[in-house]
Parts: sequence; structure tokens; C-alpha cells
Amino acid sequence: MLVGGKNYKSIWLDESNPEIVRAIDQQKLPFFFEIREMRTVDDIFYAIKEMIIRGAPVIGAAGAFGIYLATLEMTATTNPHLHLENAARYLISCRPTAVNLSWAVNYIMEKLNKNVPEYSLSATALQAALEICEKEEENCRQIGTHGLEVIKEISKIKNPVNILTHCNAGWLACIDYGTVTSSIYLAHEKGIPVHVWVDETRPLNQGARLTAWELGQAGVPHTLISDNTGGHLMQHGMVDIVMVGSDRTTSKGDVANKIGTYLKALAASENNVPFYSVFPSSSLDASISDGMTEITVEERDPEEVKNVTGFSGGKIGSVLICPENTKAVNYGFDITPAKYITGLITEKGICKPAEKDIKKMFPDKFN
Ligand code: MRU
Repeated sequence: MLVGGKNYKSIWLDESNPEIVRAIDQQKLPFFFEIREMRTVDDIFYAIKEMIIRGAPVIGAAGAFGIYLATLEMTATTNPHLHLENAARYLISCRPTAVNLSWAVNYIMEKLNKNVPEYSLSATALQAALEICEKEEENCRQIGTHGLEVIKEISKIKNPVNILTHCNAGWLACIDYGTVTSSIYLAHEKGIPVHVWVDETRPLNQGARLTAWELGQAGVPHTLISDNTGGHLMQHGMVDIVMVGSDRTTSKGDVANKIGTYLKALAASENNVPFYSVFPSSSLDASISDGMTEITVEERDPEEVKNVTGFSGGKIGSVLICPENTKAVNYGFDITPAKYITGLITEKGICKPAEKDIKKMFPDKFN
């Protein structure tokens, strides 16, 4: 994606030093555009944990690069397979909800099986990490073409098409086009009038900070709303479609996504607004079926709820928004049951959130 006329990817390998992984620092946006440099497994772990790198698909790619960096940390006395298995466990433990992280790390680990000679572990890991990035980029491009058809259909009766989105399922999070944003960019490019309602997405405000920034960079009309506004807009016919990402979708179509997604799905269902979850197959976890009981919802530091981070006097800083000793809780995600979801938009096309339809689209995931 172009930023200030220069093309950037969500995460990449340094061109002149292949021992450095780089990514856009999502914590600094939209106030500063900075690139983060990562040289060790710990650097990757920290970047994911602190949400310098965040969003399901790019977390997966970062985990994959983490295993590559782990191969570079080996010395003559290292037991390679033990070292890599420890690194894999460590990286996967970083954030529990998005399945992309374990999927990508396990994908690399399978490539680094015992038949791979020690001298080619790094090259094999790097190749697999780059493969994941390329594949996710292509997946996001395909997702855009399928989502575009849905937007096109609505545009026959609505001008502009009002799309509500939650959190950030844009190119920073989803490798170079985004998932939700991929079809929005395409519609915009093709001259289909679209307007996006951007949920601020408390507590970390990924919508306000990242989605609004991405859409602004691409010139897509959008309006920022507080998280509690969507229901009101839907009651008044001001939302034509809700499009959100997914951190983990089960075999029967339950979707874990950023906290607050479920409330939007309820409001959409009550007001007959179509509700789509948009994701690549790396976010599909066909090994589980019931999202409510089988998905671990990440709990983060309550301080993220008690404070708000913003920009003032040329600096990024946080302010307390409640009495100092107030107890807070910070669930990172919620589960939207399949019954509230109109359809799943993936790289293979669009399907109903039902096991037989998902299985037909992704038979390999059900082996
Ligand atoms: O906690 P985050 O910011 O990593 O959560 C991200 C979301 O919930 C996104 O909506 C999700 O990853 C799906 S698409 C990137």
C-alpha cells in the first residue's frame, strides 16, 4: 500500500540485511509513521504482545518470521529441534485468540521436520515465512473480489453503500490489502459510492487510530463513531451492511472477533442489516465447533480500559479516565454465534456460516 507515495507491506524482511524483520509500528499510528525492527524471537514476542503488530493474519506472519529468527539464534551447542519447539510454544503463547498465530507457527514447524539438515533450517524457515506472506496477500486480493460483489448488489438500491466496520481489518492487519478493506478499496476504485462508519473500538481504538487512517490514505469516505452508535444508525436505516474480520472461525461458523462485534451482530439482526465476517482460511479453525465454549478469549491488562492513549503537544500519551482505584476488566474478544451471521467472505468465495457449506469450501481443513 502507498504511504506518502512509497509502497509498504504490513511486514517484510529487510532488503539489505536478511536477519532483520520489519513492520509498521501500529502503536504509533496515526500520529507517527515508524518502522519497527525485529532481530530476535523476543523482539517478535514483544511486538505481538504489545500490539505493535496486531490483527490476526499479520500476527500469523510475524510468528512465522519469529521461527525464522529462532533458527538464526542457534549456536554450535544448540539442540536445534528442542530450541525451535521451545520458540514455537513461546510465540504461540503470546496471544491466544487469533488462530492464525498457531496456524502459521505450526506450518513452519512442519516444514522444519527432522529430515531437514541443520544447515538449511534458516533457509527453509525463511522460505516458508515468505510463502505465508505471499499467500495471505493473494488471499486478501481474492477476498476483495468476492466482497465487491456483495457491495455491488447493494449499490443497485443504495447510494452510497453505508458499511459499518469494527476494529481494524485493514492492510496493516491483514497483509497488504486487508480483508474488510480489500472489497471497500475495490468498490471505491470502480466508482461505486461507498461510505464507511468506523467504530472507534475501545479500549485500544484500532478503528479510530488505524482504520480511519487507512481509509483516509486511500481517499475512501468514512465517519468515525463511538462504539455505542451502531445500533442507533441501524435503527434509522443508515447502515446497509456490517463487515467485520475474524480472529477465529469455528467449523460451524461462530466468529471470534474484537470485543463489541457481538453487539453489532445483535443490532444488525434486529434491524435486518446483513452482517458479514470477512477472513482468509488461516483464520478458520475447523478443529472446534462451538465458539462459546471452545475459544479462549484473551484477557488483557485492565489498565488499557482505565486509560486512553492519544496525541497532545506533539507527543503520544495516556490519561486516566476513571477513579484511580476503579476495578476494570479487559476482554479482548467476543464470540458472534453463526445464527447472527449472514455470510462468510473468504478467498474461495462466500458461504453460509454452516458446517456443510464451510466444509464444501475448505475440505482440507476438515481432515
Ligand atoms: O486485538 P487485535 O487488534 O489484534 O484484534 C483484531 C481484531 O479483532 C480484528 O478485527 C481481527 O484481527 C480480524 S481481521 C484483522
